[in-house]
Amino acid sequence: MTAALTLEHVDGIAVVTIDLPGEPVNKVTAALRAEFAATFDRLSADSAVRGVVLASGKPDTWLAGADIDEFLTLQTAGEAEALSRSGQALLARLESLDIPVVAAIHGACLGGGLETALACRYRIASDHPKTVLALPEVQLGLIPGAGGTQRLPRLIGLQRALDMILSSRNVRARKAYQMGLVDELVHPAILADVAIDRARKLADKTLVGRRSPKDRGAAGVLLEDNPLGRALVFRKAREGVEEKTHGHYPAPFAALQAIQAGYEKGHDAGYQAEARAFGEMAVSEESKQLVFLFFATTALKKDPGVDEPAPEPHEVDTLGIIGAGFMGAGIASVAVQQGTPVRLKDTDTTRVSRGIAAVSEVLRGRVKKKQITRLQYDDQLSLAGGTVDYAGFGRATLVIEAVFEDLSLKHRVLREVEPLLAPAAVYASNTSTIPITRIAEVASRPGRVLGMHFFSPVHKMPLLEVIVTPRTNSDATVTAVAYGKRLGKTVIVVNDAPGFYTTRTLSAYMNEAGRLLDEGAAIESVDAALTTFGFPVGPITLLDEVGIDVGGKVGQVLYEAFGERMASSESLRRVVESGRTGRKGKKGFYQYDDAGTKNGVDFSVYELLPNGAARVELDPVEIQQRCVLAMVNEALRCLEEGVLRSPRDGDVGAVFGIGFPPFRGGPFRYVDSLGAGRVVDELQALNDRFPGRFEPAGVLVAKARARERFYPAHGHPLP
Ligand code: NAI
Repeated sequence: MTAALTLEHVDGIAVVTIDLPGEPVNKVTAALRAEFAATFDRLSADSAVRGVVLASGKPDTWLAGADIDEFLTLQTAGEAEALSRSGQALLARLESLDIPVVAAIHGACLGGGLETALACRYRIASDHPKTVLALPEVQLGLIPGAGGTQRLPRLIGLQRALDMILSSRNVRARKAYQMGLVDELVHPAILADVAIDRARKLADKTLVGRRSPKDRGAAGVLLEDNPLGRALVFRKAREGVEEKTHGHYPAPFAALQAIQAGYEKGHDAGYQAEARAFGEMAVSEESKQLVFLFFATTALKKDPGVDEPAPEPHEVDTLGIIGAGFMGAGIASVAVQQGTPVRLKDTDTTRVSRGIAAVSEVLRGRVKKKQITRLQYDDQLSLAGGTVDYAGFGRATLVIEAVFEDLSLKHRVLREVEPLLAPAAVYASNTSTIPITRIAEVASRPGRVLGMHFFSPVHKMPLLEVIVTPRTNSDATVTAVAYGKRLGKTVIVVNDAPGFYTTRTLSAYMNEAGRLLDEGAAIESVDAALTTFGFPVGPITLLDEVGIDVGGKVGQVLYEAFGERMASSESLRRVVESGRTGRKGKKGFYQYDDAGTKNGVDFSVYELLPNGAARVELDPVEIQQRCVLAMVNEALRCLEEGVLRSPRDGDVGAVFGIGFPPFRGGPFRYVDSLGAGRVVDELQALNDRFPGRFEPAGVLVAKARARERFYPAHGHPLP
């Protein structure tokens, strides 16, 4: 096998360059570990070598972390623990070399990569936006397993280390320098030279590594440098994790435990606790689901959106957006960040200006967070141009329509703009419910029409659902998919049907919540049961958020398409009629103050509901089962009807679009974890109680009969 490490000697300093052959990024593979071990031995035995610089040969990564494929081969906690111990031992060897090792970091330095850097005597980072440092293991349901839980707090202080490890936060080079995570910050052009110079100075003992953490502040030091203060820090951290995870994610607790063991029981106990906890986490159900989601999103990044052979996507040079409202401006704000000139069209100049102001607001937020400079802000904002008459739309390769959710308006707009567009331009609607086939009925080039369903707020939500009709040309599809990826979205492609995938499954779930209200369940009990299940907010809160009026309209469209199964609840119907709209109108199922902050349940809403104020206690498990299985069964139907291309897309769409709990993997992974047979039984029992509403999807019954799963039980989840 070709070596991943190359060695160059510069006047007594060995420059070791990591460059995994045939891979776009450097990652910690078994082969790399073996090569590292051999190289360390050789260098420490070579009396001509006085110091080492560890550099990367890849443009944008230093060392991006573990090879996650390797984790899939781990069958038992013992095997995973052994893997962690061998990683610990390798880095302990690196740390104890009697010659200094300098990490010259440019690009992503993540997970096992950062753990490697932590074991070096000195760290220099390039002052470049691509240089980010993080320990993201907790995001995959794991913990740092090669000494990260022990070395990081020693280097930057307990509270900062807890924050980095528990939040998986990316730390940029400048910040890393401020917090003492790296010793020096230099321009990328001189990184290598400075690193060689520092290695030499360390060898000469004219430079000492490991600065003490800068500006931890008196309060930080007071808290962290005594056992009582630390106990308080750990308690607060644990409370914070409990509040955030509702006990569904064991990894942050495991990380906390390992860190605490190091402080309370010493070096060896700390490393042992880390390896043990890594072992347990690596085989946990939660980690398997999170690792699946990682693989699924990675696979989607490479998926052009149509079956092979896929045509080349067209470059989107100019984007036209019709409707400068909430969604139109949101889409514009992410487009200009990618350097796309945007033409934002609305009916009058006031609305256009409001749209541009909303773009500016998002960009200002980025300046405030130091994600972009003031200059970049100016450049990006200057890309957003407004119009009331489609000026400039002739140049657009892609047009996204985001006017009110009204078919006749959408028809009018399409008819108006189509003659002005280049023949190859792609026309996308951001509708959340109206079938694209209906919208395309008035198009003279229906092959260019598709749906690009963004989620709100656009700059935060990671999913884009691209909807294609049987007439959509595949070059239009790949163009929309490629551009969605350029905007940083995870993109799934679904076939056209009422409510597509996400709106349809979410509606099934929200409807069931409404029916629970019809039967007398209390609003807060329904919401609490589902946040306990793992949803970020409960369905009634969500209804207030998206707008009760919007929910009512969506319900009507889906009822017309699917009949009784999708009939809106009586409760929703009555609240819609009452004119309450939710948060935007400051009146919904919950109370809102003038600033729009949500307070408790608005008890007056009960007067509108079928059972009035008399509420009954319903079993939270039943609430969860009914709402979740309604959603899951609808997802299964989407697969059966060919709306979804794969269970993978269904799982990613549910997790990233509608808040399905990530640690459960998604509706299809959830079915696999319960067993198809059990889900059929549960649905059947519900269908006996509520005829017609829970008829198990055919694809599920078939899986149950054949005793099959949607995903392989072992090995790679996406064969
Ligand atoms: P909005 O009411 O904030 O904005 C709609 C904009 O369209 C308004 O500024 C309006 O003046 C403009 N408009 C109306 N007629 C027009 C015309 N002839 N030419 C140009 N502009 C015109 O609505 P929002 O929330 O942005 O929704 C837009 C679309 O996005 C709808 O189809 C909606 O279903 C969909 N959507 C909304 C989501 C949300 O959370 N709000 C999420 C996903 C999709």
